[in-house]
Amino acid sequence: MDNKTELDTCTSTDETDEYRFGYTHEEIERLKYQHQVWAKENQRFISRAGFNTGATLVDLGCGPGYTTLDLAEIVGPGGKVIAVDRDGERSLPLLRAQAEAAGLLNIETMAARLESFDLQEESVDGVYGRWVLMYLPEATVKPLIDRIAKWLRPGGVCALTELCNYRHIHIHPKNKYLPEIAGALIRAVTGERGCNPEIGNNLPGLLFSAGLEVEINVIIKAVRATTQEWLWPDALFRNHLPSLVEEGFLAQSVFDDFLAEWEARSKEPDTIFFSSPMMEVIGRRS
Ligand SMILES: C[S@@+](CC[C@H](N)C(=O)[O-])C[C@H]1O[C@@H](n2cnc3c(N)ncnc32)[C@H](O)[C@@H]1O
Repeated sequence: MDNKTELDTCTSTDETDEYRFGYTHEEIERLKYQHQVWAKENQRFISRAGFNTGATLVDLGCGPGYTTLDLAEIVGPGGKVIAVDRDGERSLPLLRAQAEAAGLLNIETMAARLESFDLQEESVDGVYGRWVLMYLPEATVKPLIDRIAKWLRPGGVCALTELCNYRHIHIHPKNKYLPEIAGALIRAVTGERGCNPEIGNNLPGLLFSAGLEVEINVIIKAVRATTQEWLWPDALFRNHLPSLVEEGFLAQSVFDDFLAEWEARSKEPDTIFFSSPMMEVIGRRS
C-alpha cells in the first residue's frame, strides 16, 4: 500500500452525508481536548487490547490522528498504522504533519468511507476505533464489523469505544434543560442517515456474531468546572449546539436558557459534568 494513498477523495457536497460536526478549526481543537481528557482511559484500553511491537494496526475514523500517533509509537518502526478517515482534506494532512514532526514514518493515511472500506483477509493484527461508528448509518455497521473480523490474522484484536447511553449525560447540580439538549444531540446524530449515537450497546453482540471472543467494560468521565478539563464539555456545547438550533433540532429559547445556566455554573468549582457511559469492547480472534 502506497504511503499517503487517497483511496477516495470524499469531497461529497451532500450535506446529509457529512461528518455531523464538520471540520472547523474549533472542532479539530475540541477533538484534541477530548483526546487529552480521555487519555488515561484510552491508554488503559489500548494496553488491555495488547497491541504489540511490529504489529500492523488500523485506526478507523482516525480524525486528526491523536490516537494514531500513540499507536504508531507502540508498534514501532517495524510495524505500521493504517489511519483511515473520510476527511482527506483537513484531518489527514494534520495527522501527516504531526507524524512528520514526531519523526514517525510508520503511518499510512487513507481517505475512505468506512461504509465501503475493505482490506485483504488476514492482513492486520489489530483494529482500533473510537467515536466513529456512531456517525455511520446503523445498517452499515454490522457488515463493517464482519469485514473487520476477516481482516484480522489469527490472534488479532479489535478494540472499539463508542457511546452507549447519550441520555445519561448529566450535570451536578442538575440543569433542567440538559435532557432536551441530550435529546436534540441524539436526533441530530441520528439524522437522515439513520446513524445510532448509542451504537456502543450493539457492538458486543456484533463482534460475537462475527466470531470473536468478546470482553466489555463501561466507563464514565466526570470533569469539574474551573479546571482545564472543563474545556472539553464547554467546547462540546458551544461548538455543536448553535448548528442544532439552526437546523431545528433545538429551540433557540432552550439553548439560550441552557447556555446562561451553563455559563453561571462554569464559574462554580462544585459543578460536575458526567459524560455518557462509553462501551469499551475488545474482540479477539482465536
Ligand atoms: C468524533 S471524531 C473521532 C476522531 C478520533 N477517532 C478520536 O477518537 O479522536 C469522528 C471522526 O470520524 C470520521 N468519520 C465520520 N464518518 C465517517 C465515515 N463514514 N467514514 C470514515 N470516517 C468517518 C470523521 O471524519 C471524524 O474524523
